[in-house]
Order: sequence, then C-alpha cells, then structure tokens
Amino acid sequence: MMTRLLITGAAGSLGGYAREGLKDCAQILRLSDVAELSPAGKGEEVVRCDLAEREAVDELVRDCDAILHLGAISAEAEFDALLQANILGTYNLYEAARRAGVSRILFASTNHVTGFHPVGERLDHLSPRRPDSLYGVSKCFGEDLSRLYFDKYGLETACLRIGSCFAEPTNRRMLSTWLSPGDFRTLIRQLLAASEIGHLVLYGVSANRDVWWSNAHADFLGWRPQDSSEAYRPAIEAREEEPAKGVRYQGGRHAALKLSD
Ligand SMILES: NC(=O)c1ccc[n+]([C@@H]2O[C@H](COP(=O)([O-])OP(=O)(O)OC[C@H]3O[C@@H](n4cnc5c(N)ncnc54)[C@H](O)[C@@H]3O)[C@@H](O)[C@H]2O)c1
Repeated sequence: MMTRLLITGAAGSLGGYAREGLKDCAQILRLSDVAELSPAGKGEEVVRCDLAEREAVDELVRDCDAILHLGAISAEAEFDALLQANILGTYNLYEAARRAGVSRILFASTNHVTGFHPVGERLDHLSPRRPDSLYGVSKCFGEDLSRLYFDKYGLETACLRIGSCFAEPTNRRMLSTWLSPGDFRTLIRQLLAASEIGHLVLYGVSANRDVWWSNAHADFLGWRPQDSSEAYRPAIEAREEEPAKGVRYQGGRHAALKLSD
C-alpha cells in the first residue's frame, strides 16, 4: 500500500466520493481544496491550497506517492478563471510532482475534450479531440501537459475523460454518459493498483446501453464497470421529449453554449 495519496479538489463532488471510498488505497489521504474541507479524520490530512499558487503547490505535493487530480473549475467558465485553476493550476501540480518524484497522476479530464463529435459517433482514445468549450480546451491542455511529462520524465498519467459522474443519471444525454460513483471508485482503484499505466487516455463511463466511447485499449487494467443507466431510462424518457435540446453533439449543453464576449 502506498504511503500518501494526494487528492486535489477534495471538497468537490467527486472528491467526496474519493474521500469516502479510497481510504484503504493509502496509509494517508492528503485532502486538498481551495474551498473549506471538513476536519481530517483518521488516516487523513487536510491542506487548504489554491492550485494557482506555485509555492503552496510545491509544499502540497511533498511526500506524496500518487495524485488524484480533481481540483478544477468543472464546467464552462470565463477564460481567466479557467486559466488560473485549470491551466496554471495543472501546470503547477505537474511541475511540483516532477520535482517531488511523484510517480503517477490520475488526471480528471472530461468528455468535453471530444464534445463536438456528433451524438452516436463511436470514439476511442485515438479519435481527434474536438473540444466543445473553453473548459474542454483547458482540459486538452492538461492532457497534453501530462503527455509531455511522461515523454520527458516518465511521470505516468491516466487522463480520465469522465462522462457524467453523479448519483444517478437525470437526463437523456446521461443515459449514454453516466458514470456511477461506484464505477468511478473502482476505476481509480484499478489505476492506482496497476503495475504500469504509462500515458493512458480513457473514458470514465459505466456499462450503459448506448455508450459512445470505447476503452478496449485499456482492457489490460481489468476494469469492468458494473452499473448501467438502463434502469433509469423509462422515467427519463417519460419526462424528457426527444430530441432533447442541445444534444446534437456529444458535449450537449456545453456544445450549445455561446462563448462569452
Ligand atoms: N462530475 C463529473 O461528472 C465530471 C465530468 C467530467 C470531468 N469532471 C472533472 O472531475 C473533477 C471533479 O469534478 P467535480 O464534479 O467533483 O467538480 P466540483 O466542482 O464539485 O469540484 C471541483 C473542486 O475543485 C476545487 N477547485 C477549483 N479551483 C481550484 C483551485 N484553483 N485550487 C484548488 N482547488 C480548486 C473546487 O473548490 C471544487 O471543490 C473536475 O476536474 C472536473 O472537471 C467531472
């Protein structure tokens, strides 16, 4: 078992799932966020840190074996805000990790890096990126930065293009994109446990009937999502007309939004 796993964005919604479900992955979970976190429990450390502040990030990463990097603005936003949290923040984290000798980062990317592909098109890790938003572009930066740090320094990364990770799917789009919290946790566990991951790009999605994304290249991980959105289909289809507004592209609402002036 590793000594210390750093989780950034630990006050957020996926951070909550991770805090609750990954306790036995490391002797210590170091939980960090720019927002306030509840006090450290047994086997936890809590560190308040803005990822845009380089020296604080250097300190944050010290003595960590691996990082689950969730901290970010998690939807479309003004460019300047994305620049600080998602671009500068991710750069600071990788640079600190390299210097501290961290061996593996699980980077929360997003399906919005390929969100301008049409609904129904089948994608995999080799499909061209077509970001649907400035948010998506900020995550493309993180994916490319992680590739650079792997090629140059051997720092391993899994770029998780997370679909829609919520307690349950709530609209038609999520019937394809839903990732259950349970499947999210088992994916993280497999990625931490694998002896080697190199630089891996994969989609975080449950075993839904109409998935748009293939993870066949990542079969070696042995991750088999257990949940499916199918049980929620009747209720969703009964209350949401088809075609749902804004779902011509895989990114849904993000693809439909205008960039701000
Ligand atoms: N939930 C999903 O379905 C989903 C889908 C695709 C990608 N993701 C990605 O997964 C990650 C977690 O998503 P979430 O749903 O928990 O989002 P969230 O918004 O609930 O949590 C993100 C956390 O990051 C923190 N944060 C923002 N800026 C920061 C900064 N400068 N320094 C430190 N912390 C900062 C926030 O305070 C927040 O607690 C994000 O990177 C998001 O882009 C999530």
